[in-house]
Amino acid sequence: MIDEASSRSAELCRRLGIERAVLGAPMAAVAGGRLAAAVSAGGGLGFIGGGYGDPAWLGPQVAEAAGARVGIGLITWNVGPEQVAGALANEPAALWLSFDDPRELAPLVHDAGVPLVCQASTVVEAEQAAEAGAAVIVAQGNESGGHGRSDRALFGLLPAVVDAVDPIPVVGAGGIVDVRGYQAALALGAAGVSLGTRLYASTEALDVDAAKQRLVDAGGDDTVRSVVYDIARGPEWPTGYTGRSLRSPLTDDWIGREDEMRARRPEMEELHRRAAADGDVSLRVVWAGEGVDGISDIPSATDLVAAFPLGRP
Ligand SMILES: Cc1cc2nc3c(=O)[nH]c(=O)nc-3n(C[C@H](O)[C@H](O)[C@H](O)COP(=O)(O)O)c2cc1C
Repeated sequence: MIDEASSRSAELCRRLGIERAVLGAPMAAVAGGRLAAAVSAGGGLGFIGGGYGDPAWLGPQVAEAAGARVGIGLITWNVGPEQVAGALANEPAALWLSFDDPRELAPLVHDAGVPLVCQASTVVEAEQAAEAGAAVIVAQGNESGGHGRSDRALFGLLPAVVDAVDPIPVVGAGGIVDVRGYQAALALGAAGVSLGTRLYASTEALDVDAAKQRLVDAGGDDTVRSVVYDIARGPEWPTGYTGRSLRSPLTDDWIGREDEMRARRPEMEELHRRAAADGDVSLRVVWAGEGVDGISDIPSATDLVAAFPLGRP
């Protein structure tokens, strides 16, 4: 089994041109060019979180990567050919599409000769990604920080995706913060891992120190999946998607009363906007995965990634 796992990791590393089978998740507004470059410097592949593909944000973040080999991620349901072409114009090492069917946009990525990475939260989504010609598929469990589907935990999803899309290398995502999680993912058939929340609590992540400190202080019991922050921040996501964040007075008050919250949207938007502007990290959103129990420091992302084993001989 170990030999199989190492050949899977080696194939992932070959496809993405990396040394360690570790991807830095494309966290919108958090994974900027500095974080992505720091992940790549550690031997993995860092992705800039391009979100909805706003060129006014993406351009400067690509510049922040200062020529490092990094990828770019986009949120499929809210981008079109224009945003994909805009991201590809930056010549990313790979383009990552998450959330919704990637088959329509994939040809643009293939035509550019750029490896396509697709994140899938169900077996059906993974099959769509395989049909789209993904070079790498990320299986995202509902332990994950940030957005995703609520449906599946990684322990069951990961081996099912590995079997469904064989021989495409599959990367595990959700709740993984250290080498223990990496080894568990490899034992379930993954070729490598994607880290989100662990890298959020790093020096290079784009957020205030107080938000990162909340990740250090919190445990997985303090996280919850909801649509509360999508209502408070906009836009609302397609049905089936929720986001895992740290619990807050907002999630405590409104989970289960979402329609009432929607009816008071302007007030909620103002509340969240003010909390964000004031740096009130106890109220504003702090996305976090269940693996937050294992986060006790805020180091450089390069050191975090370099602690993982080499993925190819
Ligand atoms: C702050 C934050 C923002 C995220 N934003 C995105 C995003 O824009 N696009 C995306 O594909 N995934 C996003 N994710 C989800 C990650 O891709 C990944 O699935 C998740 O972080 C893995 O779980 P973990 O946080 O427990 O490591 C985000 C995650 C976090 C924590």
